[in-house]
Amino acid sequence: MFVLGIESSCDDTAAAVVGEGPRVLSSVVASQVETHRAYGGVVPELASRRHIEAVSFVVHEALERAGLRLEEVAAVAATRGPGLVGSLLVGFSFAKGFALARGLPLIGVNHLEAHVHALFLEGPPPAYPFVALLASGGHTALYLVTSPYGMDLLGQTRDDAAGEAFDKVAKMLGLGYPGGPVIERLARNGDPRRHPFPRPALEGAGFDFSFSGIKTAVVRRIARELPAAEEAVADLAASFQEAVVEVLVEKLLRAAEAKHCPRVAVVGGVAANGRLRQRLAAEAEARGLEAFLPPPRWCGDNAAMVAAAGLHLARAGRFCGPEADVFTRNG
Ligand code: KG4
Ligand code: ZN
Repeated sequence: MFVLGIESSCDDTAAAVVGEGPRVLSSVVASQVETHRAYGGVVPELASRRHIEAVSFVVHEALERAGLRLEEVAAVAATRGPGLVGSLLVGFSFAKGFALARGLPLIGVNHLEAHVHALFLEGPPPAYPFVALLASGGHTALYLVTSPYGMDLLGQTRDDAAGEAFDKVAKMLGLGYPGGPVIERLARNGDPRRHPFPRPALEGAGFDFSFSGIKTAVVRRIARELPAAEEAVADLAASFQEAVVEVLVEKLLRAAEAKHCPRVAVVGGVAANGRLRQRLAAEAEARGLEAFLPPPRWCGDNAAMVAAAGLHLARAGRFCGPEADVFTRNG
């Protein structure tokens, strides 16, 4: 069975074809970064308009690169939510039209579940159950994952998402959007111990996160003295990154220990962060836990993960009808 996946929940228009395994036959991502860079973040209305322009080309390209005849596609899976309403409506409505025109079943995929399915696209997959940390621009949450569609929420952020914190700090430092990759690059030459930013979430016993305190501490630091020298910016970036990474890794490992679960995973755009990957590998090993991370190219938004989630739903016969609507928030 081959599934066509379509993703448009935020600022990437993506399409992919995935077969059993899951085996990725093609994956195309049209990024809108250039459109939003000038604003230091995603502008929802512009995002919807860019999706409209891109979606049919991206889907066509994915089908062509897969080298399949259209008759070989068994189902269309598209992100139904959560995300930006205008963006979601473009991809989901396109998928509906495509499915209707071709007489194919339509599958609505939860974007957060899709990020977890990125773990199964390449490399050794984790066995169930495992504790997963989803850290992206819109979400930061911990789940106990028990099956392809069984995710119990253990905790989530009370304010900013981890990726959002990277984006906001980068904006304050005039580093552009998205913030994660540029902060990671600058942090390589900085001293992570120079500014001991707070790790408030580590004080509580629960599994919730909070990143606004770290962000505010960075704002205060910048207000006192705007870093002009490259070295000072690098120290700020490294100290901020270290605080966020420490909280993410520590909470994930604590959750796994509390749930007596020997396997952990990190997914979502922030999982591409090299320092997080390094720290997770070292600390998981030290505690006797097995750690899983998708390769960086499957961490950010893509449609292969949507199609992979769609494969499971298709096998279970979990399709949706033409009246199905998108949703902007989970639960
Ligand atoms: O999963 P994703 O592509 O989209 C959402 O579903 O939100 O995640 C995007 C987020 C952005 O906030 C971006 O700054 C962050 O992931 N990100 C990173 C890195 N690469 C992307 N954060 C830290 N380090 C990175 N290398
Ligand atoms: Zn995402």
